[in-house]
Order: sequence, then structure tokens, then C-alpha cells
Amino acid sequence: MRILFVGDVHGKPGRRILRDRLAKLRQAHDLALVIVNGENSAGGAGINSEVARELFAAGADAITGGNHTWQLREAYELLDSDPRILRPLNYPPGAPGRGATVVTGRTGPPVGLINLQGRVFMRELDDPFRAARAECERLRERAPVIVIDMHAEATSEKIALGWYLDGHCSAVIGTHTHVQTADERVLPQGTAYITDVGMTGPRDGGFEVASGPAQLNAVVVDVDESTGRARSITRVREFEETNAD
Ligand code: FE2
Repeated sequence: MRILFVGDVHGKPGRRILRDRLAKLRQAHDLALVIVNGENSAGGAGINSEVARELFAAGADAITGGNHTWQLREAYELLDSDPRILRPLNYPPGAPGRGATVVTGRTGPPVGLINLQGRVFMRELDDPFRAARAECERLRERAPVIVIDMHAEATSEKIALGWYLDGHCSAVIGTHTHVQTADERVLPQGTAYITDVGMTGPRDGGFEVASGPAQLNAVVVDVDESTGRARSITRVREFEETNAD
């Protein structure tokens, strides 16, 4: 089965290119499941129900989060009510929402999905490494295919997590830095890995939501659905020629 993971959707330009390109990508890559990191999807920081609805309407099957998930108070209720929307697993017990779930796309078997947040140059949270291994064991009973979004700042922490989880899950996809890295590979025990998938939003701008043409950064992971082992991981980059607004 082929799974598309779309990097951090940033504000309106990110939602626009997702809406315009996702159906074509689904067809071109014969995608069974689409996962979108949406922690910056509302105005460049946070997520709310209206924006989540937009991402699902564009073709997302599940939405992951990160440190900005909590930006808008409205998100708390959203996380508690919609099991397709995750926040990082390693927040303290009692935090709203969930950090892992099982999702089913339009085709293909159920897929385990885990969202983690790093601790290097970020907030002090629970250990993402141990939390991820334990959750992989739990999810494996329901779904041999497991995808992990590692939302983290430091390349070293992401690479270490990839090695630590090699053979325990189908893919470890890095998010948060917004810059796509060219280190995608399948690790020896069958876990697909990339340090950062990149961002989906304004091409010509920084922290604030910029106007102008948008880009979409993603990876396609091909997984043997009976074993959960990845066969390949391929980077995807799409660009708008001009501002579509
Ligand atoms: Fe982030």
C-alpha cells in the first residue's frame, strides 16, 4: 500500500495547494492513505475545527500535530472529539486528545498512526523514544502498518529515533523544521525514514504566513501491508507557478 505524508500545512496558501493538488497525487501514486501534519494550518499556528474540515475535504484521512497544536483553545475540544486528529503522544497524562490512533484510508488495511514531539531545543516532555516503542507494541495487534510523525527540532534526535524504531514501525517521518531533507531511505529492518518532510505553504516567506506561490512537500511510503515493512520512500515536491488567489 502507498501512503502519502504531507509536511506541515502552513496557513491559507498551504490549504490552497493541498486542495488543488491532492486528488491528482492520490491518483498518480495510487494512494491508500493520506496523512497531513496540520499544526500550523490555521493562520500559521494552531488548528481549529473549520480548518480541520477543510483539510479532510481536501483529501486528508488523518491529521497530526506538534508544539503549535495547542495555540488555539478551540483545538482542545476538537482533539477530544475527533479520533482522526492527533497531538504528540508524549505530553503528560490528562492532556486533551490522543497521540496515537488507527486510521483507515479509502482503500487498504487499517494503519496505526503515532505523533511524537522531540525534546532537544524544545519543551521538556515525556520520553518520546520509550513512549513510541510501547505504543508500537500496542498498535501492532490491530495494524501491522504503523506510521510515526516525529515533530522535532534536532536532526540528531530524529535520526536516533529512526534507528531506535527500525523494525518496530513502517515509517518515521520528521516534521517541524519546514525544510525538506534529502536523507530519505529504508533502514535495514524495514522502517522508512526521513529527517524532515518539509512544509506545505508559502514558498517565499518565513515565520509569518507570506503571500505568493505555494509549495507542497511530502513523501510517498510504499509498505508491504502483510509485514508492515517499507519497500520505498520517495520525496514529492509540488510548486505553484503563480499565486492562485
Ligand atoms: Fe512545530
